[in-house]
Amino acid sequence: MARSAMFPHRSPPRTGARAGFGPAILATSRSPHPDLESGPAHGVALLLRGHRQVAILPLMPSYPEYLKIDELLALQQPLSEAPEHDEMLFIVIHQVYELWFKQVLHELDYLERLLARNDGARARHTLKRILTILKVMVAQLDILETMTPLEFLSFRDRLESGSGFQSHQFRELEFALGLKEPRVLERYPEGGAVRRRLERRLAAGTLWDAFLHHLAANGVPVPKGDLERDVTRRVEPSPELRVALVDIYRRHPDLADLCERLVDLDEGLMEWRYRHVKMVQRTIGTRRGTGGSTGAEYLMATLNQPLFPDLWAIRTEL
Ligand code: HEM
Repeated sequence: MARSAMFPHRSPPRTGARAGFGPAILATSRSPHPDLESGPAHGVALLLRGHRQVAILPLMPSYPEYLKIDELLALQQPLSEAPEHDEMLFIVIHQVYELWFKQVLHELDYLERLLARNDGARARHTLKRILTILKVMVAQLDILETMTPLEFLSFRDRLESGSGFQSHQFRELEFALGLKEPRVLERYPEGGAVRRRLERRLAAGTLWDAFLHHLAANGVPVPKGDLERDVTRRVEPSPELRVALVDIYRRHPDLADLCERLVDLDEGLMEWRYRHVKMVQRTIGTRRGTGGSTGAEYLMATLNQPLFPDLWAIRTEL
C-alpha cells in the first residue's frame, strides 16, 4: 500500500526512509497498527519490525493540518442574504490584504534588525521581498476592479461602518514606516490588545531611524539631531542630512542602492494609495465612506505624504 494511502491525514515522517531497518510498518495515532496493544502517542509514528518497536518518529503535520485549511476556509462569511455573489470576492480580497500586511510587518521588523546588526546585503534582500509583496498588493486591486458599482452596491449597506479605514495592521504599517499619527490611537479602545500594539509601534523607532543608524554605523556623518529625533513624530526634512545623502550617492554604491530601494518602497505605497482611490472613485463615486470619512475626497488628501522626504529632496541636487 502506498504510504499516502496508509496515512490519509498526515504526510509520512521525513525520517521514514531511513536505511537499515528493512521492511517495517509504521503505525500512527491516526491509523494504529492492529497488533499494537495501545495506539501510539499523538504526533508520533512507531517504526516496527514484526511486532518489535524499533523507533519512535515524529509525525509531520499534513498540508491541511499545518495550514489550518478548515479554519481558514470557514472565515469567509457573507452578511448579505442569498448571499450576493460578489460579497465573497470582497471578503477574500480584504483577508488576503490583511495577510500581506501581516507578512510585510514581519519582514519590516526583520529588516530593522538586519540594519541594526549592520547586515547590509541581507537587509537589501529583505527590502526586495517587501517591494515584491507591495507590487502584488497593488496588482491585486485589478481583481476588485472587476466588480461593478452595482455589484458592490448590492451588499454595501451590509458593511455598515466597516471599512479598511479601521485596519489596525495598515496603521501599524504606517507607523513602522514613519507615518506617525497619535490621533489614530483614539479609534481603538484604550487597554485593548490592538491599542497596545499601536502604542508599541508609536513609541518604537521607524524604518527610517534604523536606516539612519545603519548609515552612522558605516561612517556616514548623520547629524545628531536626526539620530536622536523624537520617533513618535513623523520624519521631518533635514537639510543637514541631505548633504550626507548626496555624498552617499557619489561615493557609496551599496548604501546608495539601499536608498533607492527605500524610494521604491515610498513610491510603492503611494502607488497603492493612488490605485485604491481610483478604485473607490469608479466604484462609489463621491459617496461618503462606510468608515465615516468624505470618501474619495479624504483619500485624495492622503496621496502625497512621502515616507522619506529627504530621499526625494536630494534628486535635484544629484
Ligand atoms: C470596493 C472596494 C473598496 C471601496 C469602495 C473602498 C472604500 C474606501 C473608502 C471610502 C475609504 C475612506 C475611509 C472611509 O471608509 O470613510 C477607504 C479607506 C481605506 N481602505 Fe478601502 N475600499 C475598498 C477596498 C479596499 C481594500 C481591498 C483594501 C485592502 C485592505 C482597502 C483598504 C483601505 C485602507 C487601509 C483605508 C484607509 C486609508 C487611509 O486612511 O489612508 N480598501 N476605503
